[in-house]
Amino acid sequence: MSNQPESNIAISFSNIHNIITRGLKVSYESVQRVLQRGLEGEESREVFFNFIRAHTSVMNAHHLTEDEIVFPYFRDKLPEAPFDSLTYYHHLMVIVLDEINLAVDKCAHEDQLETELTNIEKALAQLNDDWPYHIQPETDEFINLADAVIPVEEQLSLVRLFAEYDLKNAVPHYLTVPFMLYNLPQDDRVVFSQGMPAEVVQNLVPVVWKEKWEAMKPYLLA
Ligand SMILES: [Fe+2]
Ligand SMILES: [Fe+2]
Repeated sequence: MSNQPESNIAISFSNIHNIITRGLKVSYESVQRVLQRGLEGEESREVFFNFIRAHTSVMNAHHLTEDEIVFPYFRDKLPEAPFDSLTYYHHLMVIVLDEINLAVDKCAHEDQLETELTNIEKALAQLNDDWPYHIQPETDEFINLADAVIPVEEQLSLVRLFAEYDLKNAVPHYLTVPFMLYNLPQDDRVVFSQGMPAEVVQNLVPVVWKEKWEAMKPYLLA
């Protein structure tokens, strides 16, 4: 463990983008499966929808962190970066995330289930299509340039600051934190965990919150 690389801006953004990419893919495939086979094959209705809700909350929180503290922090350091257009696309994606959350709420009504699952499937298909076109310029024109403007030794404290802000908006924590950690392969999870308080990683997730999130394991990585 002592040989693990220290997290930095590029690693932490790559990880959160990978978390969202996998969350989108698993959510989309799960909804397609439920539309074909029904909810019976899933862990449970509650767990299935918990995974989707955790996903929308984490994705929304990531956009808010970028818009409210990351982009303002970097704006004068990287004046050529396309922060305005990235924020514009966040707003477009938030509209789709809101549609998903509304449809999940309506799925509580049995007679609306199929219609709303179809709406969720369409919204997730759109996000799956759009997402790579958002993170590509974000990576090329902002994240990969961070090393040029922020000393490496200052980056871990920024990673922690940004992660703390993520946690303000990604709720409930007993679902969203395990969602983030376990949508990453183990090696990346260890590095990503450096951004979080030790208490969260070492006690809350594996012990205190375990009963509330472990049923999501079929949708997560080991
Ligand atoms: Fe973004
Ligand atoms: Fe991002």
